[in-house]
Amino acid sequence: MSAVVVIGTQWGDEGKGKIVDYLAEKADVVVRYQGGNNAGHTVVVNGNEFKLHLLPSGILYPGKTCVVGNGVVIDPAVIIEELKGMQAKGIDTSGLRISNRAHVIMPYHRLLDEVEEDYRGEYKIGTTKRGIGPCYMDKNARSGIRMVDLLDEEEFSAKLERNLEAKNHLLQAVYGVEGFDYDSVRKEYLGYAEELRPYVTDTVVVLSEAIAAGEKVLFEGAQATLLDLDHGTYPYVTSSHPIAGGACIGAGVGPSQISKVVGVVKAYTTRVGEGPFPTELQDEIGDHIRERGHEYGTTTGRPRRCGWLDACVVRYAGLVSGLNYLAITRLDILDGLKTLKLCVGYQYKGERIKEFPASLKVLAQVEPVYEELPGWEEDTSKIRSYAELPANARRYIERLSAVSGVEVGIVSVGPGRDQTIILADLF
Ligand code: GDP
Ligand code: IMO
Ligand code: MG
Repeated sequence: MSAVVVIGTQWGDEGKGKIVDYLAEKADVVVRYQGGNNAGHTVVVNGNEFKLHLLPSGILYPGKTCVVGNGVVIDPAVIIEELKGMQAKGIDTSGLRISNRAHVIMPYHRLLDEVEEDYRGEYKIGTTKRGIGPCYMDKNARSGIRMVDLLDEEEFSAKLERNLEAKNHLLQAVYGVEGFDYDSVRKEYLGYAEELRPYVTDTVVVLSEAIAAGEKVLFEGAQATLLDLDHGTYPYVTSSHPIAGGACIGAGVGPSQISKVVGVVKAYTTRVGEGPFPTELQDEIGDHIRERGHEYGTTTGRPRRCGWLDACVVRYAGLVSGLNYLAITRLDILDGLKTLKLCVGYQYKGERIKEFPASLKVLAQVEPVYEELPGWEEDTSKIRSYAELPANARRYIERLSAVSGVEVGIVSVGPGRDQTIILADLF
């Protein structure tokens, strides 16, 4: 049995898609377990770029089973478009299995995401406005619509009617915007139901059979540790559980089935959206990293906030997800910088603090404690073994590993599959 969970350790966009795609070669099943099309995972295969939002990155290999688990929220129009886009590029999508328990994003979720953000004004979260939060709200309020309901015309119609009555009232009376017409939403969504029907099944059964047969299962986290609803920088988080434990709930597998957890770390830090970010660089080094690394959102195109690597964040991710290995990505983006700073602790009101603060007021006021490390001039993107990396690059990686307390399993020096240095056997 081998089941590996890959998660983001920072605020997202660490390169989870690249690492999952790399590991997927050896996997039989690849599973998304939370989030929705707020995720944007870019995978580069033979120079061709694929941007995935809902489909697991394993879809790029023929013959893999790709599961969209119960913990994912699905915008049917988006997944259909993504499927068609893949098919047009000659990608075999027959291995896709969508959970009948996954919740469906409705048009009122997307509109609520917008009007609620406007209403928050200066306290806005900076969401992707894809309806993610409102859909999870309905799931928790026990009024959501699941895939199994969408496929049942009678059930769907009844639920839609009840939900629209409440949502239209909320949209009109509280936010002063137009609601939605029952007949047109119903018709639109019943059309999606027919397109998705062949893929929808009980994915818990698919996964338990795969595990029982000794198949290799790879779980693809979306978002990241500090965007986790419980463990992230609340309220500047997403509404799901990107940490490793989320894989159990969002896919319906027991913790005893998970063999390894890999945390993806970008060699520096980025964040999209609002919220505190202790190592943020609002200077020319931050601009240099953004431009050299093309740090603009895959999903929304927003410029990403950039900063130094924060080992406190990675250590915290190690704790909440029980990380066995780190996969360090984008090391090549740091090539040519004279000096690098690694955050190894925080000071608050002149005192060193040990834990990652729960209070955002505290997190916004901490002073990062930096270690300065010498950079390297060499082009690392062509290097294929750990020993050949510049000594200063190895020193930087080893310092991160020592401070975070997690062993390094992978170093990535470019978006391509071959630009991957393996230090540990993960599958
Ligand atoms: P994800 O959301 O965690 O999957 O990350 P994104 O796909 O949003 O952003 C990561 C970007 O970095 C993508 O464009 C990847 O193709 C790219 N990438 C991944 N690993 C590396 C790397 O080691 N070096 C470089 N230069 N790019 C990388
Ligand atoms: P991947 O999987 C980076 C951020 C949004 C916002 C917050 C809440 O590509 O790493 P939401 O729309 O989820 O309610 O927004 O979470 N966010 C991401 N940031 N990468 C992502 O996904 C993200 N998904 C959501 O910017 O701050
Ligand atoms: Mg992304």
